[in-house]
Amino acid sequence: MDRYAVIGNPISHSKSPFIHMLFARQTQQHLTYEAIELPENGFADGISSLFEQGLSGCNVTVPFKQDAFNYAYQLSPRAELAGAVNTLKKTDDGLILGDNTDGAGLLADLKNHIGDLAGLRIALLGAGGAARGVVGPLLEANPAHLMIANRTLEKAYALVERFSALGPVSACQLSELDDSFDLVINATSASLAGENVDLPEALIHSNLYCYDMMYSNKLTPFNRWAKESGAYRVFDGLGMLVAQAAESFALWRGLRPGTRQVIFELRRNLSC
Ligand code: ATR
Repeated sequence: MDRYAVIGNPISHSKSPFIHMLFARQTQQHLTYEAIELPENGFADGISSLFEQGLSGCNVTVPFKQDAFNYAYQLSPRAELAGAVNTLKKTDDGLILGDNTDGAGLLADLKNHIGDLAGLRIALLGAGGAARGVVGPLLEANPAHLMIANRTLEKAYALVERFSALGPVSACQLSELDDSFDLVINATSASLAGENVDLPEALIHSNLYCYDMMYSNKLTPFNRWAKESGAYRVFDGLGMLVAQAAESFALWRGLRPGTRQVIFELRRNLSC
């Protein structure tokens, strides 16, 4: 039976085994999928021996997405663009392909919630690894403008420099954000540290969509703030998690599972 895994540290709370088990059942694929923790500085050795032992592919999560990028023998264009890898696949000739499905996952979930992003004015909060992984796919969706707002302005400018050939993108401080946006996406890691992102109330208006790439069994701190301040609708990143997993599954198995029912099951599972 083909063997897959998610690799991270820590990894015990990962939802990926649950998601992929539902995908496998839905598509009648016979495979195993487990969560494997590798030591923080032992990614390359650990993953090599897993592939030697017969692993067919894996998802890669915090803190190894950069290590996976360096490890892959071959990179997909979107992994190259993101500068990070969240999916590895052993190809038929035994070489390791690195892909990044995070951006496609976000775009698929935004499409489900909002529809076409073409012509929208989008603000992206954060300029770390999570933000960098989605700037390329967001620009490829032809927004009217993408503003990258970050606490540390230089990091936002570095992303603008990296991606400006792909579309209209600029940078600003979080405090400079105003009511000119249709969609705000939170790609900061603030809520992981139990912190709030300090944002101006002026950002919020009654037609504003807000999307937090984090997810939670209750409203995330960013979504709670946005909702209480009067935003139109708020969404968390649970759908993105499932959609990026579906992209990885498609890369490995050549079959694209449906996400709607899996999102429903996962949400129900989270609230238990
Ligand atoms: P990740 O891979 O999750 O993106 P990262 O690369 O460490 O993690 O980046 C974290 C991002 O969240 C950064 O943009 C960071 O802002 P700085 O560049 O100014 O550090 C942002 N961030 C984290 N905590 C924050 C907070 N409390 N308020 C605003 N931004 C925050």
